[in-house]
Amino acid sequence: TVDGVVKALSTDLTAECLPEDDEDGADVIQFHPAFTYPIYGEHERIFGYKGLRIQLSYAAGSLATLFEVDYAKRIEQMESTLSVPLKADDVDGPMRSVLAQNICNTREEFAQRVAFDTQAFRPIGQKVHEYKGTREAEGDEQLRYEIYESGFESSEFRAYHERMQTLVLFFIEGAQFIDMDDERWRVFTVFERLDINGVASYSLVGFCTMYRFFHWPDRKRPRISQFLILPPFQGQGHGSSLYRFIYSMVLASPEYADLSVEDPSEAFDDMRDRNDMRYLLKHKAFDHITCAPVSRSDIVELQRRFKLSMRQMTRCLEIALLQRIK
Ligand code: ACO
Repeated sequence: TVDGVVKALSTDLTAECLPEDDEDGADVIQFHPAFTYPIYGEHERIFGYKGLRIQLSYAAGSLATLFEVDYAKRIEQMESTLSVPLKADDVDGPMRSVLAQNICNTREEFAQRVAFDTQAFRPIGQKVHEYKGTREAEGDEQLRYEIYESGFESSEFRAYHERMQTLVLFFIEGAQFIDMDDERWRVFTVFERLDINGVASYSLVGFCTMYRFFHWPDRKRPRISQFLILPPFQGQGHGSSLYRFIYSMVLASPEYADLSVEDPSEAFDDMRDRNDMRYLLKHKAFDHITCAPVSRSDIVELQRRFKLSMRQMTRCLEIALLQRIK
């Protein structure tokens, strides 16, 4: 039975990305991965099955995980006219190699974990920011969003990150797992907090990993490495809220020189350009610049003042100059 499943996120390679209740009326949101090649190879195909269904279910907050594979027939069970025996691809091994070690073994175990975690799970790390979202709460409910900062010195967070990191493979092109033994990583997680009758329940909205490089002589140069807002929460301003928080933290801290981003996707660039431009225009960054060409010393001065990478500062300056063309 899945009676205990109150809220779960499920990545199903066969289902449509649609919110729906499961057969027991539990609050389940289903969505597809954008990429499966890191697990099943560049053609994203699995050979040898009829009606193959691979389902990964996650508890929305704790990310307790259940991995299920289902199919109507394997090629070994099908009639073949070929003399050479055909073998179906391994579905289990490649997926298990990217999942955390301690996942649930049965649906019953997963249902119990979800039922327990829905009320008991609390985000790990230090709460560094909170904000209101666009989604409206209903009746007695209270809804808000909280950002937590964590590091791998916490064994509890390492275990959480082991469950969370699989998601980067599904949604960030070219993503790889990071080295949890390197203390220069910081991780920011965003959670939706729903209070019903005074009881809080958390769902993971997204996260960002940040690496702190050394900046000569005594500062740090933070670089955003992986940035992900889960599909059910995309397009609601959460990516912007997380990015703005990280940028404001970099601006406020004298130990940080500037903020850069590792191999940004087009969607990320778009989100960053919009947020950086709003900030720069609000702080009158370009008011003294009337037209191109802009001297290198002016650009360096802007880059240092606003702590953006040289590439991003030049990009924003170009957008500002283009906006002035009538
Ligand atoms: N294409 C074009 N514009 C977009 C897209 C997109 N795919 N996504 C967001 N935007 C725009 C929005 O229109 C919005 O504009 P506005 O502020 O003027 O209204 C702005 O960007 C911000 O939108 P948000 O709702 O804050 O963006 P969201 O919460 O969806 O986060 C993100 C954006 C991070 C790209 C998210 O959609 C995501 O995680 N996508 C999948 C994974 C990914 O691409 N991650 C980034 C990889 S790069 C890296 O990791 C360093």
